[in-house]
Amino acid sequence: MQAGSRKKLVLFASGSGTNVEAIANYFQDHPDVSISAVLTNKRDAKVIDRCNRLNISVLYFNKWAFYRSDTVLEILRRLNPDLIVLAGFMWKVPDTIVQDFEDRIINIHPALLPKYGGKGMYGMHVHNAVKNAGDTESGITIHYVNEAYDEGAIIRQAQIPVLPEDSAEDIAKKVHQLEYQHYPEVIKELLT
Ligand code: GAR
Repeated sequence: MQAGSRKKLVLFASGSGTNVEAIANYFQDHPDVSISAVLTNKRDAKVIDRCNRLNISVLYFNKWAFYRSDTVLEILRRLNPDLIVLAGFMWKVPDTIVQDFEDRIINIHPALLPKYGGKGMYGMHVHNAVKNAGDTESGITIHYVNEAYDEGAIIRQAQIPVLPEDSAEDIAKKVHQLEYQHYPEVIKELLT
């Protein structure tokens, strides 16, 4: 990371984008950190409306652009972010991008990895699995992205209690609150 210059973030999101909004709000008036763009793989994702409202550039790409060409890689090289932040992004990042941006891509996972990680474990699937297992706690894991899904070095974890009466939706709500608090903080720590 370059010292002393304005830091640039690129965010990836696939869904509602509440984490994108929390990050955008956190850095809104920050003199040294800006969001260059949000990239999404879902043409009708709610995050697009949020970006319109927040005046953030949003770019859509399809599977071909991501996995079968260097289009997304080239966009990223041009944007030259200090940090790439996966914020509810549901596709595995191709090795070419991971290697080009080594140690500059982070992800947030809505459980305490290594539990409930890997392919198919995202969003409500994770919270349903936690509920069905009868776990008494869950939480978040913020980690670097490497070539193996959900296995990169852990940067921070935080826990919430799961009560017997909590539904999967209740767990999701509590986990989201943790995400909004910790993800922007970690991003700031990594950038400054
Ligand atoms: C978040 O809970 C995030 O941790 C999770 O998706 C949700 C997106 O919510 N990510 C994954 O499951 C990645 N494997 P949001 O779109 O409202 O930010």
